[in-house]
Amino acid sequence: MSDYHTPVMLQEVLSYLQIKPGHRYIDCNLGGGGHTEGILQADGKVLGIDLDPDAILEVAKKHGLAITHSSNCLAAKSENLILYQGNFSDLSQITQTSHISRVSGILFDLGVSTHQLESAERGFSFNTEAPLDMRMNPTQGLNAKDLINGLYEKEIADLFWKYGEERFARPIARKIVETRKQKPIITTNQLAQIILSVRPRSRSDRTHPATRVFQALRIAVNDELSSLEKALPQALSLLQPGGRMVIISFHSLEDRIVKNFFLNEQKKNSLKIITQKPVEPSEEEITTNPRSRSGKLRVAEKT
Ligand SMILES: C[S@@+](CC[C@H](N)C(=O)[O-])C[C@H]1O[C@@H](n2cnc3c(N)ncnc32)[C@H](O)[C@@H]1O
Repeated sequence: MSDYHTPVMLQEVLSYLQIKPGHRYIDCNLGGGGHTEGILQADGKVLGIDLDPDAILEVAKKHGLAITHSSNCLAAKSENLILYQGNFSDLSQITQTSHISRVSGILFDLGVSTHQLESAERGFSFNTEAPLDMRMNPTQGLNAKDLINGLYEKEIADLFWKYGEERFARPIARKIVETRKQKPIITTNQLAQIILSVRPRSRSDRTHPATRVFQALRIAVNDELSSLEKALPQALSLLQPGGRMVIISFHSLEDRIVKNFFLNEQKKNSLKIITQKPVEPSEEEITTNPRSRSGKLRVAEKT
């Protein structure tokens, strides 16, 4: 498996997508192309989208595809595989540009890739010293440093609470504002140390005390929840009747958006929910790929 990212619940995804040879599928979170590869091996065609140019370059290289550049984004194309650098919140426009009208299945595998977490300079991780960045698309303007140094104390606290459900949101925000009066907070370690000074690690902590704050910042920098909310109705309208939407989310905020969207569309008779409860990775998968641990997979079919 590629070092870039190990695909989560690969067999489950492929089986729920019910891939038919020659049919077109959209992988909205291409990453290292693990799920895309599975679809191609089952003789499906794929449009793979990712905000991160590294993902497009990685998968293009694997398939020997030439990269084209247009208006600040990368693309590549073969008979079975189209790669497009963009935000899935622009799904309708991306499919139009790619001359695709209807598809048989759409996959979302939300969040960050191992490659992004382990590329220290991207600033996603509190384990390595790096600039506070966290942009999935490095050409985007706003980054994590801008939020930490530019927002008011209350805005910071609200952000940590809303996107991280961080119980110590207020004292951490207060400490950030006190600290930045002395000098700007520009690195991941600076921020992690501030969090640890307010909320030291205890023996009962299963995760690092900075986990929730870093998650909250990443969600805010990349506007992750509203991108998902914008993408879901576009995905539904691109599906052929009988086509399936398969969505893996990694935290409750995303899972709630997916669950509510499926329930509302089922009430309107436009979707049928296939997974009454979210499917989770097997114990075996969690052991071999601990990052899969919080994955929740939901599936619905267009009626
Ligand atoms: C969990 S990884 C996907 C891994 C992939 N399924 C694989 O098998 O390697 C999530 C990817 O989605 C991308 N991403 C996150 N939000 C996005 C968005 N709004 N639009 C497009 N890509 C996005 C990230 O850059 C990252 O590469």
